[in-house]
Amino acid sequence: MQKVIALDGPSASGKGTIAARVAAALGWAYLDSGALYRLTALHAQNHNIDWANEAAVAALAAELPAEFRGQTVWLDGQDVTQAIRSERIGMGASAVAKLLAVRQALLQRQRNFLTAQGLVADGRDMGSTVFPEAQLKIFLTASAQIRAERRAKQIGVPLDGAAFAQILADIQARDAADRSRPVAPLQQLPDAKLLDTSHRSIEETVQQVLDWYQASPKAA
Ligand code: CDP
Ligand code: CDP
Repeated sequence: MQKVIALDGPSASGKGTIAARVAAALGWAYLDSGALYRLTALHAQNHNIDWANEAAVAALAAELPAEFRGQTVWLDGQDVTQAIRSERIGMGASAVAKLLAVRQALLQRQRNFLTAQGLVADGRDMGSTVFPEAQLKIFLTASAQIRAERRAKQIGVPLDGAAFAQILADIQARDAADRSRPVAPLQQLPDAKLLDTSHRSIEETVQQVLDWYQASPKAA
């Protein structure tokens, strides 16, 4: 058993928000694994490498010149905190994340985030592949409509126009790609607790995770 809380789930279900707050409450480290796939997609784009070119993208992922500094993310000495959040780079992340060699290139780097205190890790395969011995596994979800509304509010898009319809379509397309891929698909594991945040506030969701943590068998 590892001192890890694994939070997996679809886009905009609240993983990053909840994981960061739970990590702060426990004094644990936090891993945003999606950021590594986003950084890989941006790095490939900067090098004019096609997202489908498995060997070339994996070689870049293995040597990713990226750094997490507080709330900011850096690539090749540039602050890319905003740049990696675009929906285009989200699609790129989903494209490179399909490739087994890319996932393997990023595996140890993700495991290195575990500290003696503990780790809260969010992504798609934290419980299945990266930390299969995690002491608590959670599948965080919400309806696609509510997730699209949250994303729209985050970036200031009104909920009644074409831009919103596009956000909803993008979320559904990325979910379908993440769930149907043969390598590390997004799925609810039999040993993961389901947490639907559709009608739960951030505070209630954080509290539920902490309650489950308190009740879980403790790792050494
Ligand atoms: O924030 P959001 O949930 O929209 O995306 P993200 O967590 O930053 O992940 C971006 C993409 O990276 C996802 O659509 C997945 O395809 C991929 N990903 C993955 O395959 N495995 C992970 N552990 C994390 C992200
Ligand atoms: O990391 P992921 O893509 O799963 O989601 P996120 O970026 O953490 O959350 C997307 C948005 O939903 C943020 O603006 C959160 O504040 C919001 N949220 C919410 O309104 N209610 C929740 N229970 C969880 C997140």
